[in-house]
Amino acid sequence: MKTLKFAVLPGDGIGPEVMDATLEVLKAATAPAGLELDTTQADVGGIAIDNHGSALPESTLEVCRAADAILFGSVGGPKWETLPPAEQPERAALLPIRKAFSLFANIRPGLLFKELVDASPLRPDNIPNGIDIVCIRELTGGIYFGQPKETRTLDNGEKMALDTMVYTVSEIERIAEVAAVTAKARGGRVCSVDKANVLQTSVLWRETVIAYFKKNHPEIELSHMYVDNAAQQLVRDPNQFDVIFTENMFGDILSDEMAIICGSLGMMSSASLGLTNNQYGFPYGLYEPAGGTAPDIAGKGVANPCAQILSAAMMLRYSFGLDEIADKLEAAIRGTVESGIRTGDIAFGKKSVGTQEMTAAIIERLG
Ligand code: IPM
Ligand code: MG
Repeated sequence: MKTLKFAVLPGDGIGPEVMDATLEVLKAATAPAGLELDTTQADVGGIAIDNHGSALPESTLEVCRAADAILFGSVGGPKWETLPPAEQPERAALLPIRKAFSLFANIRPGLLFKELVDASPLRPDNIPNGIDIVCIRELTGGIYFGQPKETRTLDNGEKMALDTMVYTVSEIERIAEVAAVTAKARGGRVCSVDKANVLQTSVLWRETVIAYFKKNHPEIELSHMYVDNAAQQLVRDPNQFDVIFTENMFGDILSDEMAIICGSLGMMSSASLGLTNNQYGFPYGLYEPAGGTAPDIAGKGVANPCAQILSAAMMLRYSFGLDEIADKLEAAIRGTVESGIRTGDIAFGKKSVGTQEMTAAIIERLG
């Protein structure tokens, strides 16, 4: 491997500025290993609506198809909020790109450094060592994509709408495998979250997960929890979990809850892995920060680049197999934060630095 060929989709708001910072850091991290970045940039989200009339234009999909991974910024903003829901940048870019590349496995780390416990709304004595959990969310099935999905007018003239929650055994098994592999590299525990006391899909989910783990991963400590209870347990004692593993919509909700208890959204990364492998035999994937476009601070040079950089570290790990460089990147970020160099979102009213200074401090710690 000599070049890392990935699509760069900065998007809207703070997306472009934290993406620039990330590419700088990536260059510095990979150059010593003789690796070059082969990147092609394309529009996505609001800027793509403005420039091409669609949040995910065909030209952007082309760029993604020609690459081994996608580094994604964030999409959306006030300018596009008046569009019909289905045309708004978030939904109109993210859902089709997930479908187009069969990005079925969403990995969201819930990581809060010990030094940043004050950023969490939880009581510090609840989380003395920070938080370190991960949510594995199924991303291309369930109620998000199930058919039929429509709005109808009944004979009596009343409108009704309908979404369908569907899961097949193979869809459940392939995401169960991702949860198991993730747990093996961590604490060896998976908590599968469902609503098997009410939903048919959850009954199948639980049965399938039990059988799959028994046959393929008997060494993993598997437990089950109803989603309403999981929402409570997550705020009561997040570190009781190691890997939270769940279907699409439950994962959407629980992963947001997880992000907020972990403090700053400026630190939250994510990976969405596809069904197919890239030319190097690693999963094709999309890597994006979880924090959004932060329109209030966009263009001011104060955004926290860490979430985007941590997402790039996940790209190195999953889509390029470069664990050592990913470790280095993560350590450099941890070192920077520990030494008190912080952007405003994690400075707790103390002196803060801008995106560029934060980036330079991270690069300095890569050496
Ligand atoms: C997410 C987002 C998306 C989702 C929206 C924007 C479609 O909330 O990535 O979690 O619901 O999956
Ligand atoms: Mg969400």
